[in-house]
Amino acid sequence: MKHIVVTGASRGIGYQLSRRLAENGQKVIAIARTSTSLETLANEDKNILALPADLTTEAGLTKVEHELQNIGQIDILINNAAMLVNSPFMETSIAMWKQQFDVNLFSIVELIQRCKPFMKSGSHIVNIGSMGGVQSSKKFTGLSAYSASKGALSILTECLALEFARDEISVNCLALGAVSTEMQKSAFPDFDAPVSAEAMSKFISDFALNGHTFMNGKILPISFSDPE
Ligand SMILES: NC(=O)c1ccc[n+]([C@@H]2O[C@H](COP(=O)([O-])OP(=O)(O)OC[C@H]3O[C@@H](n4cnc5c(N)ncnc54)[C@H](OP(=O)(O)O)[C@@H]3O)[C@@H](O)[C@H]2O)c1
Repeated sequence: MKHIVVTGASRGIGYQLSRRLAENGQKVIAIARTSTSLETLANEDKNILALPADLTTEAGLTKVEHELQNIGQIDILINNAAMLVNSPFMETSIAMWKQQFDVNLFSIVELIQRCKPFMKSGSHIVNIGSMGGVQSSKKFTGLSAYSASKGALSILTECLALEFARDEISVNCLALGAVSTEMQKSAFPDFDAPVSAEAMSKFISDFALNGHTFMNGKILPISFSDPE
């Protein structure tokens, strides 16, 4: 039984991922801002602990840190929480850029810094990236801030894999293609994603539990093509 932190667990991929991991007997610490959705999730399975927190705030991060101290050890951290600004570059204010990077990069930096002291040799950090954050992938109008934040997360993955290697903590990034969720609909309203959140959560769950025994520092495209 592993202790697994899943961020962005109130809906979409993170919700299904938390359910799947818990069904498989893992202990899940499920984080997002919407406490009602987290309570619904936690009521489904006693292996899920609902931890409502805004990861862009000091109060939210401190709350998570206190819970980590109670638990004592984290085996897997899945940085899945994100938001998506869909706005043409010339209409995207610097405040919108900062909000995008606060959620999709800086909160992850802070969460990793707070989780790492609780991670032993053999632990795995999985960053949920995007095909938009992969060099030379097809790009889409309106997604410059989102894609740039995911590109930064990809490179952060490579840097941390190197820096944490001496502690035998692996860091990988899954660059997802389109998955049917609220976020996907806000980016591509007229496009039906070919993959469900349930199906993608199965892949992420297997990878989080086993992928680090085969690779470290990898940015893996999980996509048929762009944007599918
Ligand atoms: N769906 C796709 O097609 C697709 C494609 C490529 C990559 N991805 C990536 O896959 C991941 C999951 O995406 P999704 O489609 O499932 O998104 P989603 O349905 O919009 O869910 C995003 C999750 O992040 C949480 N969140 C946002 N801001 C937060 C904050 N400040 N603190 C804590 N939690 C926060 C949200 O919960 P609250 O609002 O309750 O806080 C929600 O649970 C993301 O990293 C996304 O970039 C998705």
